[in-house]
Amino acid sequence: MKREVWEELWARTLREHPDKVARRPPNAHLVREAAQLRPGRALDAGCGHGAETLWLAALGWQVTAVDFSASALAQGRSMAEAAGADLAARIVWAEGDLATWQVEPEHFDLVVCLFVHVAGSVEEMVQKMASGVALGGALLMVGHRPIDPVTGAKTAAAGQVQVAVEDAIAALDPRRWNIVAEEHLRAVAGSGVDAVIYARRVA
Ligand SMILES: C[S@@+](CC[C@H](N)C(=O)[O-])C[C@H]1O[C@@H](n2cnc3c(N)ncnc32)[C@H](O)[C@@H]1O
Repeated sequence: MKREVWEELWARTLREHPDKVARRPPNAHLVREAAQLRPGRALDAGCGHGAETLWLAALGWQVTAVDFSASALAQGRSMAEAAGADLAARIVWAEGDLATWQVEPEHFDLVVCLFVHVAGSVEEMVQKMASGVALGGALLMVGHRPIDPVTGAKTAAAGQVQVAVEDAIAALDPRRWNIVAEEHLRAVAGSGVDAVIYARRVA
């Protein structure tokens, strides 16, 4: 979806459901994987209103949070400020389009990219995100699959391009990455599966 569509969606969601947005917990796959990591520098690409960014910053991570929706970023910034000056100081909120945004090469100990769909090839998107990971660091990407494998029905992600297990396997060199890429049933019954890609850079 285009920037204007996301911006409109975020502005409406924040207007109509501010409490729901504020209460949304961080992604469970991130919580599971990042709990084992020592805080360092993280990139949250397509951060939305920043539930994951705020969680990482609370653990001591220095987070660069990128999104092209100004409304989502403003919400994230105000939640960070409400959580305290120390936490807020650990986050850089950056307005940018991931299709053209330059990822600082090998700079981050953790790159997170959750439910983001951009124009172009998903393989290129995985490689772009991976290029930001420092040696010893980790990449977490999650994509909602368009078809529920149990029922064959379309999910809320139908028609969107999000990361799939096979994209990650094709994009990442197994000599440089320890890759765990698998589909997980979503918490809400009937809403399909997420492709969860967790890769540690080993060379
Ligand atoms: C489904 S939301 C996911 C937000 C957050 N990662 C999460 O898991 O809740 C997708 C987010 O990606 C952002 N986004 C989509 N395409 C983008 C692009 N090309 N550049 C920057 N942000 C983008 C949208 O504005 C939106 O905030």
